[in-house]
Amino acid sequence: MTEVTESQATAAESGASATERFRQKQKVETATSKERVSTLATEVLTAIHDVIRRHQVTYEEYDALKAWMIQVGLDGEWPLFLDVFVEHVVEQVANDSRQGSKGSIEGPYYVPGAPALPAEATLPMRDGEAGTPLLFQGQVRGVDGKSLPGAVLDVWQADSAGYYAQFAPSLPEWNLRGVVTADDEGTFRIHTILPAPYQIPTDGSTGNLISAAGWHAWRPAHLHFKIASPGHHTITTQLYFEGGEHVTDDIATAVKPELILDPVPASDGNGLEVTYDFVLDPA
Ligand code: DHB
Ligand code: FE
Repeated sequence: MTEVTESQATAAESGASATERFRQKQKVETATSKERVSTLATEVLTAIHDVIRRHQVTYEEYDALKAWMIQVGLDGEWPLFLDVFVEHVVEQVANDSRQGSKGSIEGPYYVPGAPALPAEATLPMRDGEAGTPLLFQGQVRGVDGKSLPGAVLDVWQADSAGYYAQFAPSLPEWNLRGVVTADDEGTFRIHTILPAPYQIPTDGSTGNLISAAGWHAWRPAHLHFKIASPGHHTITTQLYFEGGEHVTDDIATAVKPELILDPVPASDGNGLEVTYDFVLDPA
């Protein structure tokens, strides 16, 4: 057995926390017709049968799959696994016909209820928070080009070690999370730090699959957003950084060219700054 280091062990807790979060959110039962359930279940099962035939899957491999699926549940890693390997296609289908800014996956680490902040604000952070300072500024508009006064930007990100508050121990509850209300012109100026690339916990069952397959476990550094304005479609998206590690080989396949920022040295000499405008479709 490989030894589990402390940082890997703590990373694994993030899977279980994400499962708890998701279960709290998912109290409502959705009514899906028998016909649709049957169609989707039949096609998923048929796809699995085809793989078994095509690759002559053995009983040993079948039992390994069963054991692995049991372990994903025990580890609480279904949200993490599904958001890394499946959500990007759901997002693509959901947002195919929108005209406004591109969306991207939500991932498992969104927490509603972060501290409310004004249009120019610093995200909650520790004294001397490590990382390059970043000023992220811009405007929220409709597809008609009109500004959206009071648009709300819910922002969350990893710290400069790649950890998310509430999913890793010893981070303040709302570290690098905030809900910013844009001003009368829909503009915002958010002071934060550059996040680090994020590694899928390597000691859990998702990590086991990744290493058994010889894949890497990395997502590029990213900022998460939900952008909302009354009468408009809320965008869930992420922004990445030009030239950043794993921008071209994100394990979650969630990077799009329109979502890559290219920050420049800040005019006040303190770190970097970048401007990005969000465009919302009518609801
Ligand atoms: C996962 C983590 C993220 O930070 C993210 O943005 C998407 C997915 C994950 O571990 O599943
Ligand atoms: Fe993330």
